[in-house]
Amino acid sequence: MTGSFNFLLHLLGFGFLVTALLGGWMIERRSRREKDLTFKRILLRTGRAIGLLSPIAALILLVTGIINIVSVYPTNPMIWHSQGWLMAKVILFAFMVVNGVVFGPIISRRRSRLVDTMIAGQAPEGSEQTLRVLEKNLTTYYLVQTLLLLLILFLSIFGSGKHPGLF
Ligand code: HEM
Repeated sequence: MTGSFNFLLHLLGFGFLVTALLGGWMIERRSRREKDLTFKRILLRTGRAIGLLSPIAALILLVTGIINIVSVYPTNPMIWHSQGWLMAKVILFAFMVVNGVVFGPIISRRRSRLVDTMIAGQAPEGSEQTLRVLEKNLTTYYLVQTLLLLLILFLSIFGSGKHPGLF
């Protein structure tokens, strides 16, 4: 039996990312239905804690991905540019990281601040509506991240041509 611990770590990174995305989404859905604002805040904080898994997963995937490149193309790692599927995968990964580091946290921080002001009874007029808009934006955020992850997975499995099957 042969194998690579780096590759194992690459797949673990993928697992962490799926956990963060799915767990975050499930807590997100639950928090939306919660009428008690104090409990809603607890759920939002739990969601944020789960979300912290994703930068760790992204770092693991990037480092192990680079080591994968060196292992798969040992004589000339720079040849990875010519692999269309790998290039597309890295570009989609970059989009995913920017979305996850910039847009997701901005929207969820705004929402948390709004809920805090609502709990303190200092929420401005139209806060409920603003809350709905922010929650819709978060749905879009999760949809985009899931789509990007599925595309990356598709490219990883079918791009390398290592798994001949039905097609
Ligand atoms: C969300 C991010 C990522 C996911 C879900 C992911 C997933 C995967 C999976 C499932 C495989 C196994 C493919 C197979 O054995 O057929 C793989 C292999 C690989 N990944 Fe990733 N990966 C990600 C990010 C990256 C990044 C950022 C890089 C490069 C910097 C990278 C480079 C590679 C390479 C070179 C292989 C080996 C391909 C081969 O053996 O032919 N991955 N990845």
